Amino acid sequence: MSAPLFSVEGLSVALPDPNRKPLFRPRPMVEILHEIGFEIAEGEVVGVVGESGSGKTTLGRTLVRLIDPTGGAIHFAGTDITHRDDNALRPLRRDLQVIFQDPLSSLNPRLTVGRTIARPLLFHGVAASASEAHDLAAATLEIVGLPPAFSARYPHELSGGQRQRVGIARAIALKPRFVLADEIVSGLDVSSQAQILSLLERLKSELKLTVLFISHDLSVVRRLCDRVIVMRGGRILENRPTGPLFDHPEHPYTAELKAAIPLPEIDPDWLAAT
Ligand SMILES: Nc1ncnc2c1ncn2[C@@H]1O[C@H](COP(=O)(O)OP(=O)(O)O)[C@@H](O)[C@H]1O
Ligand SMILES: [Mg+2]
Repeated sequence: MSAPLFSVEGLSVALPDPNRKPLFRPRPMVEILHEIGFEIAEGEVVGVVGESGSGKTTLGRTLVRLIDPTGGAIHFAGTDITHRDDNALRPLRRDLQVIFQDPLSSLNPRLTVGRTIARPLLFHGVAASASEAHDLAAATLEIVGLPPAFSARYPHELSGGQRQRVGIARAIALKPRFVLADEIVSGLDVSSQAQILSLLERLKSELKLTVLFISHDLSVVRRLCDRVIVMRGGRILENRPTGPLFDHPEHPYTAELKAAIPLPEIDPDWLAAT
């Protein structure tokens, strides 16, 4: 067995409480994640599910060290990154990519699609010249199913699904070792969602990406993920391979979540239509 790509032990996170602001004193801290532990193997797609406020986003952002943990340890590729500062994290940034929920606010409106993808390639030294970065960007657009001519377009000229493809292209063009995807299909209409999911399935098999895939939608997670972490109240309730977790939920909460999945075979309008 090779060492896991991510190894997380006793991870705790506390953030300043937004609801309390005493005068002349720092905000009191509120604990959001409570001693979380798990591993992610190279090439694994791990889902994180749980109701809103359960700590999914905080967990993801802490893994890629956008948030500083208050306790525990995070090892990435054998390196302790628990308390690395921004400078020390810089060489690892290429390998810790994030695809955001809302591609419109995460894409710079003044950059063309081509430059959006090319800029990080130059910044991280993946491409040696602007023309090499441009070629790589065009090739990556093709991988995510967009015509190379889209290089010249601006984010506002694209549909939501197309924008999310650009967000995916920007991340995978760097050939990162890890991708955090936080609710990346939540804002899309059903048909764009289905297309993005097929794209992710293809990327998973072709690029062997390692992904933490956060979603409140269990049907999406069931389709895409090898393993699923169920969270509630900043704790992990279950962490098991997808098949067994859905077939035989150990925790009543997982069974509840599962029962809340709408059955895709049934047309929601059937009652009205009869
Ligand atoms: N920046 C923050 N400061 C203080 N509390 C926060 C912050 N971000 C999130 N929280 C709180 O942490 C909890 C978990 O939030 P979050 O990680 O966003 O959950 P999820 O992604 O599962 O909806 C919530 O109770 C939320 O109010
Ligand atoms: Mg969230």
